[in-house]
Amino acid sequence: MPVFLETDRLLLRAWRDEDIDPFAEICADLEVMRYFPEPLSREKSILLISRSREKQERDGFCIAPVELKETGAFLGFVGLNRPDYPKPLPFDPCVEIGWRLKQSAWGQGYASEAARAWLRFGFETIGLDEIVAFTIPDNAPSQNVMRRLGMTRDHEGDFLHPSIPEHHPFAPHILYRLGRTAWNRSPDGRAGDGPGFT
Ligand SMILES: CC(C)(COP(=O)(O)OP(=O)(O)OC[C@H]1O[C@@H](n2cnc3c(N)ncnc32)[C@H](O)[C@@H]1OP(=O)(O)O)[C@@H](O)C(=O)NCCC(=O)NCCS
Repeated sequence: MPVFLETDRLLLRAWRDEDIDPFAEICADLEVMRYFPEPLSREKSILLISRSREKQERDGFCIAPVELKETGAFLGFVGLNRPDYPKPLPFDPCVEIGWRLKQSAWGQGYASEAARAWLRFGFETIGLDEIVAFTIPDNAPSQNVMRRLGMTRDHEGDFLHPSIPEHHPFAPHILYRLGRTAWNRSPDGRAGDGPGFT
């Protein structure tokens, strides 16, 4: 099973069928999904995995499983995603970074550790110019990860999520951005000597 990236504590690898049960459990957890309109049914979790596998084939990346090296445990996903909602995002085309971990894996730096590896991949391996992230204003834990990664909020970028009904309280989203130049200037970017370093 291909491992895409490796960090000190984590493997970021391809999806496999054995991920379905633990992933469905995470997506059915009301606390994990509290900033989403609803938790996901098992069928929707399976669909998310199969769409991620298709995107891996199409784009060369996807929201990918995070595995703890020490135990082999499946923690959730962190990865890059090229959104393709039926209605476009106002800042399309874009590549977003996203994360969803099981509760017992929160508060240990795993999301940020995995995300840093994906940012390096995005800027240095496949030469992206910008990576975005978005969430609802109340999702402080997710915004904390964005800021830890050096992303900055684009206050002009607030938008209504195209897949959420307009009047739903979770429709309003905020946008964070990280450009290649800011990445190169950041401690994470300076730590590398890949082609993106200037
Ligand atoms: C968003 C989410 C991934 C954030 O997880 P997280 O564990 O808080 O984020 P990080 O990996 O950056 O961990 C940082 C925390 O680990 C702590 N930590 C402990 N050991 C650490 C270590 N060795 N290295 C770094 N941080 C460590 C940090 O102090 C920090 O704690 P704090 O937030 O209390 O200050 C998680 O809350 C989640 O999965 N939420 C549900 C899904 C969701 O909402 N996704 C986002 C949708 S937009």
